[in-house]
Amino acid sequence: MNTSPDFHSLIDDLSTKGYAFRENFFSSDLCQIIKNESSNIPFKEATIGKGNEQKRVNDIRRDAIYWLNSDSPAVFQQYLNYMDQYRQILNRELYLGLNSYEGHLAKYPPGAFYKKHLDQHRGSKDRVITTILYLNAGSEKNSGGEIRLYQKDHPELIERDIPPSVGAFLTFLSDEIYHEVLTSHFERYSLTGWMRINHL
Ligand code: OGA
Ligand code: MN
Repeated sequence: MNTSPDFHSLIDDLSTKGYAFRENFFSSDLCQIIKNESSNIPFKEATIGKGNEQKRVNDIRRDAIYWLNSDSPAVFQQYLNYMDQYRQILNRELYLGLNSYEGHLAKYPPGAFYKKHLDQHRGSKDRVITTILYLNAGSEKNSGGEIRLYQKDHPELIERDIPPSVGAFLTFLSDEIYHEVLTSHFERYSLTGWMRINHL
């Protein structure tokens, strides 16, 4: 759990294709500890939008979330450190000027999904780069829960479907890559977050 993943290796794909995906990017130890913690964690039903527009919409997403914060268990502090390393590499290599990361653990109960969307909130450019770590151990072939990416230049066309297997890491441009979570038939965990530029 102490060697850092090779965040540098993501930069090429991210800048050419708009996304990068690697299997077994994070150690299964780290993922297992996060999974274990998740049984003690106070999840809340997810909402969409922000501020006054924020509401829970069952037809759009059906996951439960827990925001990482400075009081979260140690394994989440470790993950926040990793995301800080990634953020600095993005800034150095792509001059993005990202100044913070926010992330949450998401739990999709069987039957849950998240319809096609962009991560950048309407009217706000704060979310720039999306990061997702998958935490689902075991063979979940044909059990749904894939993330479907749409093409950067043709958002009506499918780019690929990615199974959410343990340790896999996905990162993409929050304002360009449409995506959705296909109905999951098992309890699906992902740690989703965003590199932000905080505008005044
Ligand atoms: C999101 C999201 C995808 C996933 O939370 O915005 O698209 O695979 N999550 O969990
Ligand atoms: Mn999303």
